[in-house]
Amino acid sequence: MAEKKKIVLNTGGGDAPGLNAVIRSATLAALQRGWEVWGIKHGYRGLLEPNGLMPLDRDAVRGIAHLGGTILGTANRGDPFHYPTILPGQDKPVAVDRSDEIIERFKAEGFDALVAIGGDGSLTIAKKLIDKGLPLVIGVPKTIDNDVAGTDITFGFDTAVSIATEAIDRLHTTTEAHERVMVVEVMGRHAGWIAVTAGLAGGADAILLPEIPFRIERVAEKVLQRERRGRRFSIVVAAEGANPAGGEVAVKVEADEFRRAPILGGIAERTASELARLTGKETRSIVLGHLQRGGHPSSADRVLALRFGAAAVGEIAAGSPSGMVSMRAGDVRLVPFEEAAGKTRNVPTDRGIVRSARELGICFGDEPETHFSAS
Ligand code: F6P
Repeated sequence: MAEKKKIVLNTGGGDAPGLNAVIRSATLAALQRGWEVWGIKHGYRGLLEPNGLMPLDRDAVRGIAHLGGTILGTANRGDPFHYPTILPGQDKPVAVDRSDEIIERFKAEGFDALVAIGGDGSLTIAKKLIDKGLPLVIGVPKTIDNDVAGTDITFGFDTAVSIATEAIDRLHTTTEAHERVMVVEVMGRHAGWIAVTAGLAGGADAILLPEIPFRIERVAEKVLQRERRGRRFSIVVAAEGANPAGGEVAVKVEADEFRRAPILGGIAERTASELARLTGKETRSIVLGHLQRGGHPSSADRVLALRFGAAAVGEIAAGSPSGMVSMRAGDVRLVPFEEAAGKTRNVPTDRGIVRSARELGICFGDEPETHFSAS
């Protein structure tokens, strides 16, 4: 008979619709094999606290596949290598490397494997923990941004795109009624997947991506060209990480010693005021923000998440080495962590969805002569 295993799951970084579906499927796949399953609360924090672990049985994961958020909780400032810790005699936390404690607790609990459900940041941490001695980690790629390298898609993305598309649809009617320009800011960090996909689906007139530095004059030209054709309103979708050629990405909160990436935001407001100046039209901006991460996962995200969770446990059962489950051309398979950790999967600018959007006349704010490079 196959050896009984004890596995533990965690969810880290920004939440994404589908996390609970992964937890459910990994738990059921493990229980089915007679294994014991635990969850770490709030990223890695639970391994540093006496009551930070929760048992996962059938009851714990009943009826959760369709729920957003994560029953385990998550953390954005929970990197064990830079963990916010209040040292004796101090009142402010400082960044302390607590990775040894994490590894010791993992071993003391008798866990055989960790299923780490996270984005680029969490997968990079998992890789560092393996290098330091954590015996087996299977990563599951999650993020609404869809920017994890080594996989064709991450769960959470489809739901975020649906929410953003519905928002753009709604903004269309009010923008047209008032003959305004509306700039809609969507998430995505330094990748424009949400912007280009929701922008195309929602019929945006211009889409600003981190991958294509834009000139505001080009976007204004597009607005005025529509005006001349009697289309007296325009919708611009801006990825939060988009930046003007030669300019800077808009940052809302700078990185600090605990959260090592800045929080982006502000490009829509900035773009709207420049468009108002250049076109003379009334403009408004809106930031969709965390609405894109909330609520029920779409059926596509649920299925992807359920497949990833089951595959993670399947890999542990098969005795595979540490790695990340990924979707490649319709198949779920294991790829080495090195393919994903520390990398960003960007939108290709000379083919694929950008090319389709250009065929429709959607403006990306760049020089027209850069369109349609041979590929
Ligand atoms: O990575 C997911 C994401 O939602 C990004 O699109 C966004 O920049 C960031 O997380 C926001 O993080 P927070 O939850 O800390 O505001």
